[in-house]
Amino acid sequence: MASEKKYDPKITPWQVAEQDFPKDGASEEKFKFLLRYVILAPSGHNTRTWKFKLQPEGMLIYADYTRRLPVVNPDDRELVISTGAAIMNLRVAAAHFGYACDVQYHPKANTPELLASARLSESSQTDPELKKLFPSIVQRRTNRIEYEVRSLAEGELERLQKLTTGQKAAIRIVTDKTIQTSIAELISQGDHIQMSDPAFRQELASWVRSNWTRRGDGIAAYGFGIPGIISWMGPWFMRTFDLGKPQAKKDYQFAKEAASLIIVHGKGTKESLLEAGEMFERFVLTATSMGLQYAFLNQPMEVRNLRTRLQAILGLADWPQLLFRIGYAEPQKRAMPRRPLDAVLIEG
Ligand SMILES: Cc1cc2nc3c(=O)[nH]c(=O)nc-3n(C[C@H](O)[C@H](O)[C@H](O)COP(=O)(O)O)c2cc1C
Repeated sequence: MASEKKYDPKITPWQVAEQDFPKDGASEEKFKFLLRYVILAPSGHNTRTWKFKLQPEGMLIYADYTRRLPVVNPDDRELVISTGAAIMNLRVAAAHFGYACDVQYHPKANTPELLASARLSESSQTDPELKKLFPSIVQRRTNRIEYEVRSLAEGELERLQKLTTGQKAAIRIVTDKTIQTSIAELISQGDHIQMSDPAFRQELASWVRSNWTRRGDGIAAYGFGIPGIISWMGPWFMRTFDLGKPQAKKDYQFAKEAASLIIVHGKGTKESLLEAGEMFERFVLTATSMGLQYAFLNQPMEVRNLRTRLQAILGLADWPQLLFRIGYAEPQKRAMPRRPLDAVLIEG
């Protein structure tokens, strides 16, 4: 790994090479290597909201509540979901390097930060479906550009459909244009409501970085399509101006014309949210392996009465937790920053 001095958070962590796996090393060294893939998982506003403690038989997985988003997510829902996404990366990397990965959720632990633990044991028979997703870990990106207006091929929809049933969470794939239009209306209303709230803009702006950022978290402005020198002004711009109107117009079109809208839903318990995060990540890693792009349109989940209306449109008995569009587009080449692995390790 490049020395700390040369560490570029937008490049170095993504250059992880599987031939560097320390096959003759101690177990903890090997588990630490797996974590290099785990930290490439996505998180809300790229807050990197997890911590790990290595153990002789695996690892403990913690939420980092110092990285909360109190305005957009006062109940830490997306923080727990993001940790679920990291757990899925662990399962995939473990399967690839020949480890069975037994994950236990700890929703009622005495330490509220402790969300899960993973036991890793060498195995020659790891899940082939998970193994196939390994290359997608470094290829996956949130891609917020405009997508082509075309439907998913039939075989693709069927493949994704197999990933929609969990125990405590589930995924709904919407391809009906009338339903998509109703959801698009909620999204655009969400944009107007959120962007007119100075506290929402302030929080978002505090996680937006220039395109030359050396920080290992937050969203570099190129993620929003803000180029070059203008990106220095990105946070100020977002904090100062209510961009609800143009954003609503754009998102409405994106949602209405998307090949498909995907809704991850479940109860609000920690177990259900962790599973929702795992299912989401497996879904987008699979979509990535199929050459599909995705981007979130979570606004209706983050405004209370819009969430209830989305629930009604979909006829759900539980709660919509995540909403994103998928389709075909030019891939996003530039990756978002990641903190160095040591920053998320709990020593001792
Ligand atoms: C639970 C969760 C919620 C997210 N919500 C949004 C969102 O509402 N809008 C958005 O544009 N991106 C959203 N994102 C995407 C993150 O901003 C993105 O994952 C992060 O910036 C890292 O970029 P990457 O996914 O390309 O690695 C979300 C991601 C996660 C995991």
